[in-house]
Amino acid sequence: MSKTAILEIDGKKYEFPIFKGSENEEAIDIKKLRDLTGLVTLDPGYKNSGSCTSEITFLDGELGILRYRGYAIEDLAANANFLEVSYLLIFGEKPTAEILEKFENDIRKHTLVNEEMKSILDGFPKTAHPMGILAAMTSALTSFNPKSVDVDNEKDMYCAVCKTMGKFLVIATWTFRKNMGYPMNYYDNTKGYVENFMRLMFEIPTEPYKVSQTVIDALDKLFILHADHEQNCSTSTVRMVGSSHAGLFASISAGVSALWGPLHGGANQAVLEMLEEIHNNGGDTDKYLAKAKDKEDPFRLMGFGHRVYKNFDPRAKIIKKAANEVLETLGVEDPILEIARKLEAAALEDEYFKSRNLYPNVDFYSGIIYRALGIPTDMFTVMFAIGRLPGWIAQWKEMRENKEPIGRPRQIYTGSTLREFK
Ligand code: CMC
Repeated sequence: MSKTAILEIDGKKYEFPIFKGSENEEAIDIKKLRDLTGLVTLDPGYKNSGSCTSEITFLDGELGILRYRGYAIEDLAANANFLEVSYLLIFGEKPTAEILEKFENDIRKHTLVNEEMKSILDGFPKTAHPMGILAAMTSALTSFNPKSVDVDNEKDMYCAVCKTMGKFLVIATWTFRKNMGYPMNYYDNTKGYVENFMRLMFEIPTEPYKVSQTVIDALDKLFILHADHEQNCSTSTVRMVGSSHAGLFASISAGVSALWGPLHGGANQAVLEMLEEIHNNGGDTDKYLAKAKDKEDPFRLMGFGHRVYKNFDPRAKIIKKAANEVLETLGVEDPILEIARKLEAAALEDEYFKSRNLYPNVDFYSGIIYRALGIPTDMFTVMFAIGRLPGWIAQWKEMRENKEPIGRPRQIYTGSTLREFK
């Protein structure tokens, strides 16, 4: 007999099925709760609520497991490239060499961004944060591609995927070029996706530009590690916005905004700013640990803690190793890396952090690599967005294909009861 859960309210018992996932995770299926009992559940921050079933990413926070479509993150980071992982996430299977080549070529067909987008970019002040520009520009893509995707048409969906992968990368780099006062750059269809990212960012018309394989490999790995993370804040946002049948660009734009916050993707910028501040103030890590523990002080140790990982973040382990390797290969000596190591070691020995299961997360070491590659701090969250893009697309596509209902949580009203307006 399949397992059920019994809920007793005012002496009356209600039975709910227990849903089991392919990795034996269990959930009480409360789809009929309100119909049967008249009650809803209350769960701010969705700490106990599954919003959907998904075949894309498996995550076990206790064991520190992260898998995309069944493949371990360690395996993918070591053996795959970013476009291969993007295809895997979006379409469910690892692409053959021919399929991957076709995918890359099809993305190339969509890398030209409408020139009129440049006048929108012109309207932003130079001081604008790149994430704000990226969200607005992604949304603006809707106006240049007004026909919404027919999700039931495989060819149409495939084309929308390639278009999003192509154009998003270009506009992401334009946010930086705008800030630098550089002329906008175009994708070079003879080069790879990740190599193009560096060119699009840094190549200027007056000099030849060459990207080293070390840099391409490091970025490939970072993008893979960020590519999906099941129902996090930005991904849930993308699914939620898409559930109203808003288009893919509009949904991704909302995801960019959600990612921007310092508790989510914005943490990578905040980590580096924090490490720089500690360095500039003499490197006293103990002082900052004390601040993080002080409940009167709003300061948090950025890059530490995670809603789901309670033992370690497997992405952080890979990134820490990669940071050491990249800095060594590029011959970069960064005192910030030493501060990060010192801070991590002290926090891992500290009772406050130990008792709350606070460990370094994906953002703790990623900024050190970005910095070594010459990427400015305010572009760090844009880097996260480029990496997360295939995950957002995959989750949006799955949500539409599963014909999920519009997302519309309930609430419990706690405001004034009826009063007269005189
Ligand atoms: N520094 C100091 N204390 C912390 C921290 C931190 N970084 N993170 C959590 N705590 C404390 C928090 O004050 C609370 O203490 P108490 O039980 O005494 O009230 C306890 O740990 C539990 O924290 P929470 O805020 O209830 O946990 P959460 O699951 O809601 O938040 C988090 C998770 C990631 C938002 C949080 O750990 C945090 O703010 N970390 C810093 C920001 C950060 O690095 N974010 C990147 C997350 S990973 C990348 C991504 O997915 O976007």
